[in-house]
Amino acid sequence: DWTMENYAKKAIKEIKEKVGDGKVLLALSGGVDSSVTAALISKAVGEKLTCIFVDHGLMRKNEGDEVEEAFKDSGMHFIRIDAEKRFLEKLSGVTDPERKRKIIGEEFIRVFEEEGQKIKSVDYLAQGTIYPDVIESGLGDSAVIKSHHNVGGLPDFVDFKEIIEPLRMLFKDEVRNLGRELGLPDYLVNRQPFPGPGLAIRIMGEITKDKLDILRDADKIFRDELEAAKLEDINQYFAVLTNIRTVGVMGDFRTYDYTLALRAVSTTDFMTADFTKIPWEILEKVSNRIVNEVDHINRIVYDITSKPPATIEWE
Ligand code: XMP
Repeated sequence: DWTMENYAKKAIKEIKEKVGDGKVLLALSGGVDSSVTAALISKAVGEKLTCIFVDHGLMRKNEGDEVEEAFKDSGMHFIRIDAEKRFLEKLSGVTDPERKRKIIGEEFIRVFEEEGQKIKSVDYLAQGTIYPDVIESGLGDSAVIKSHHNVGGLPDFVDFKEIIEPLRMLFKDEVRNLGRELGLPDYLVNRQPFPGPGLAIRIMGEITKDKLDILRDADKIFRDELEAAKLEDINQYFAVLTNIRTVGVMGDFRTYDYTLALRAVSTTDFMTADFTKIPWEILEKVSNRIVNEVDHINRIVYDITSKPPATIEWE
C-alpha cells in the first residue's frame, strides 16, 4: 500500500541500484526540496553523495549553521563553502533588482563549478525538482525553471551520465512528509519558500554586510513572533529593509534611520496572494521588539498590498 514509508524504501532501493559504485553531486541550498533530495540520496548511497552547500552570505539568521548541523554527520560528503565575501564584492554598488539576481545566479554557478571540479569523475548530478516544477516548465524539463529561479544553468564542468531527480513525482506536501520520514529536523522540513538570491532581494538598494545583519535580526523577531502566535492561513512572512530613512526620536535625541517593511501573505499557489490580516496586537509587539532590539531601525510599516498588482517579494 502507498505510504510515505514505502515510497522512501522504494526510492532508496532504486537510487542504490542505479548509482551502484558511481558518484553523485548535488547543490544543496538548504531549501526543502534540495534538503529532502540530499537526505534521500544519502540514505541510499552514503558518502558516494557529495553535497556542495554554497553559503552566499545572503541567508537568514542562523540558516547556514542549521543546514550544516542537519547534514554534517549524515553519512554523505558535505562541503560548505563560505562565499560571503565573494558575493558581497560582486554585489558592491549594485542596486538594480535584475542585476542582483543575475550576479548571484552566475556567481553561484561559478563557485559550484570550482568546487565540483575538485571532485573527480562525477557520474550523476542530482536535482531537487518536484512535480509542480515539471508542470510549470510545460516541457518536463525542470532544468529550465531551476536555472531561472535558482542556479543560472547546468554546470558544464563534469561529464556526468545523467541527472537524477528523485522528487520528480511529488507535490510539496509529499516532499515535506518524505523529509519527516527520513528524519530531517522540522526547521528544514517546514521551511517557507526562500528565494535563491536570498536577502539580496529583500534589501532595497545597495547590499552591505551591515544592512544584512540589521535585516537578519529584524526578520528573526518577526518570524519568531508569528510562529509563537500560530496563526492559520499564513504562508510566507518576512521583513524587508527599505532604503528609505526617516526622522525619529529616541530619548532626547533625533534619529535618522531605516524604515523596515513587514510582509506576510496568504496563498495557495504563490501566483496570487492576499496580504495576511495579522492582528494588531501581534504587529504591535513585533514593532516594539524590533525598534527596541535592533539598531538603525526607527520606523516599521506593514505591506497591505495583494498580488497582483504587487509581487510577494519586493524585488
Ligand atoms: P513573487 O515575488 O514573484 O514570488 O510574487 C513568488 C514566490 O516565489 C518566490 N521567489 C523565488 N523563489 N528563486 C526562488 O526559488 C527566486 O529567485 C525567487 N523569487 C521569488 C517568492 O519567495 C514567493 O514565494
